Amino acid sequence: MATSPSRLSIDYANVMASAVGADHGLSDADLAAAAAEAATHIARVWSEYEAGSQRWIALPDDRQLVADIESFAASEGRAYQDLILVGIGGSSLGALATIQALAHPFRNLLPAEQRGGPRLFVFDNPDPEKIAATLDTVDLRHTLVNVVTKSGQTAETMANFLVAKDALEQAVGADNARRQIVATTDPKDGLLRQLADEEGYRTFPVPPGVDGRMTVLSAVGMLPAALCGVDIGGLLDGAAAMRQASMNHDARRNPGALFASIAWLAASRYGKSMLVMMPYADALFGISDWFRQLWAESLGKRLSTSGSEIFAGQTPIKALGAIDQHSQIQLYTEGPNDKLICLTGVGRYRHEVTITSTPDSIADLGYLQNAELGQLLDRERVATAWALTKARRPNLTIEIPAIDAGTVGEFFFMHEFQTVIAGGLFDVNPFGQPGVEAGKNATYALMGREGYEELRQELTSGAANSAYALTPA
Ligand code: PA5
Repeated sequence: MATSPSRLSIDYANVMASAVGADHGLSDADLAAAAAEAATHIARVWSEYEAGSQRWIALPDDRQLVADIESFAASEGRAYQDLILVGIGGSSLGALATIQALAHPFRNLLPAEQRGGPRLFVFDNPDPEKIAATLDTVDLRHTLVNVVTKSGQTAETMANFLVAKDALEQAVGADNARRQIVATTDPKDGLLRQLADEEGYRTFPVPPGVDGRMTVLSAVGMLPAALCGVDIGGLLDGAAAMRQASMNHDARRNPGALFASIAWLAASRYGKSMLVMMPYADALFGISDWFRQLWAESLGKRLSTSGSEIFAGQTPIKALGAIDQHSQIQLYTEGPNDKLICLTGVGRYRHEVTITSTPDSIADLGYLQNAELGQLLDRERVATAWALTKARRPNLTIEIPAIDAGTVGEFFFMHEFQTVIAGGLFDVNPFGQPGVEAGKNATYALMGREGYEELRQELTSGAANSAYALTPA
């Protein structure tokens, strides 16, 4: 199948020393050296892929999965009134980012015939108030539960799922409940796989060999998205277009590798220990949320690839234009110069909203006469980039012509490639998440899970030092 060309561009003039000064901006020589280093990682990643690893790269090819998901969504899924997505981290953020970008922002409030698929509710945090409120709101007789977990055992997900399963069984009986559950999990391993096989749930696979945070283009992200009416084939087309662009061995012509080179230089040479992702579109805010996990969990590592302690990483921050111009931008412009800021601009928003009249009596509002809101929002972005640059704050802008399935797929693939190349530049293994696993294990121990007795002992043995606790008088 022919791949369409990428439609995403990156303007990085404002990260260069010529724009923000030599103390904060990259020199051409710096960038050339980083690009040469990134080129070695581009070659390595593609040869690892050819040799059978880096399996996330293959996800845009699985068109049979798209057909299976679409057929499930059309034949069964869309008949439900409500969908509860149960999952956390990489098992929910990708789906949420996709749906936020591509579905109607208030689809839960629309009548069924306009909504296209069930209303969406999410069981991610095991916050009893949210879970109880959701169960009060959905109609369990017409609710599909999609439980998603790669490991098949994450405490939050399994706890939330057991609550949902119990509620379903009480509402519709055990046999119907089984038919209203679809599990996305490892094809062979894990506790959820075992339960799904025992109960006969419909299942979709989490691709083996792919970290949770890289599964957005698998059934993990695509099943909930398709149920909410998203064009998942278009998503994969966009990802494939960006994959093609990611094959360029010149890092300055390769979007993900270019972004990785800039971010790494900014962090390692110019003290930009934070990376702010600030789209000028509400619909793209979820992608910043998804990216935050990807960048944090992949690069935030204690050990280098050779095993020495380096405490690597760059803290990702999400912000939203123009809202955060009235919140965070004061800090970004005048506070510590320790951030690289990435804005996203949209060529054409999906709707035009024009101000048709301003009060004659208030001449100072006249500049808004016939103004269009998308034009205002985009000019806010241009103004912010200018103000940041004037204050010598390095910033770059990703530009897309429009928000659609193709450009969203491009974002996902670009950021994944960028993260893997950045892993090489930061000299860490971007896969795995030992810091997350430590907390997961401690939770199992505290909850009394069998096999974690020793850890439980360690966690509960130190008596709390009341000298350092503030308690109500
Ligand atoms: O990237 C990862 O692998 C993790 O962040 C996981 O997505 C997250 O911890 C949830 O794990 P699981 O899908 O096994 O429930």
